[in-house]
Amino acid sequence: MTVKRVGIVGSGIMGAGIAEVAAKAGFDVVIRSRSQESADTCLAKVGKSLGRQVEKDKITAADSEAILARIKGVTDLAELEYCELVLESVVEDLGTKKQLFSELDAACSAGTIIATNTSTLPILELAVSVSRADRVVGMHFFNPAAVMPLVEVVPALTTSPETFDVAWEFALACGKTPVKSKDQAGFIVNALLFPYLNAAIRMLEGDIATKEDIDTAMKGGCGFPMGPFELLDLIGLDTSLAVLERLYEERREPGCVPAGKLRQMVMARQLGRKTGGGFYAYPTAAASKVSSS
Ligand SMILES: NC(=O)c1ccc[n+]([C@@H]2O[C@H](COP(=O)([O-])OP(=O)(O)OC[C@H]3O[C@@H](n4cnc5c(N)ncnc54)[C@H](O)[C@@H]3O)[C@@H](O)[C@H]2O)c1
Repeated sequence: MTVKRVGIVGSGIMGAGIAEVAAKAGFDVVIRSRSQESADTCLAKVGKSLGRQVEKDKITAADSEAILARIKGVTDLAELEYCELVLESVVEDLGTKKQLFSELDAACSAGTIIATNTSTLPILELAVSVSRADRVVGMHFFNPAAVMPLVEVVPALTTSPETFDVAWEFALACGKTPVKSKDQAGFIVNALLFPYLNAAIRMLEGDIATKEDIDTAMKGGCGFPMGPFELLDLIGLDTSLAVLERLYEERREPGCVPAGKLRQMVMARQLGRKTGGGFYAYPTAAASKVSSS
């Protein structure tokens, strides 16, 4: 199967980034939001990102226009019918994703592959909830999608070799570096990363050091590009909590029990950059945040 038209469901941080990546790679992209307003906001966000690339002479203004013209923002799932590949990137919640999968199963043509950008949920559970368990696969992009080179391609037990190959080739066509992971909580990266991020929050709770010093220490001492609190704010604290809960559910390791402070911050909707504040404050981010789809 050759992918020409890609559907993306969910216009949050990752949906917008993946739409940009796919359109830049020459695919026709249909991005589905629950409201036209958030679809438009998402397109504006992609436009802004492309504008910055024009300013830096990475692409021309004509390139930017052509890329934007390949992205269509819609609200009706039926518009995804003729996409060869649909990638869902809605909130990290199994119930929400299962509901969406059954709607996509009904809306998309029989041959459409449904991929999920979940950070950690079981791909098999999503696959067996639809009539096309062989055409479901995990495609885990990283944040920011336009910049980060990695995509974890995760076959469920039911995923056909053809579906896996299409996902792998699509990642390559997007200029990404794919790796294959088994369908286990956190796949490769998050299985290793999140116990560390959780330990950093516990260190803060234990008054071992300030968040600024912990971030400085991990950048200066380990050569990491971001400290753990900067990274948690970038990822989003709600997504981070969901990842840790899932890791603990599968591994039962004490290091995966979400830190109390993380739970409290999520309850207070201090979710990081996307809400304008998490461990740090982002006043301008709050103003330009992509609204909910
Ligand atoms: N943030 C990251 O660093 C990162 C990285 C890789 C993968 N992911 C995964 O990508 C997915 C999206 O994460 P994000 O960071 O873009 O989150 P986000 O909070 O920025 O966006 C979530 C989107 O889901 C939509 N949504 C919420 N409830 C919904 C519902 N009931 N039905 C349909 N849509 C609904 C929201 O309106 C929003 O558009 C998650 O599965 C997450 O685990 C996130």
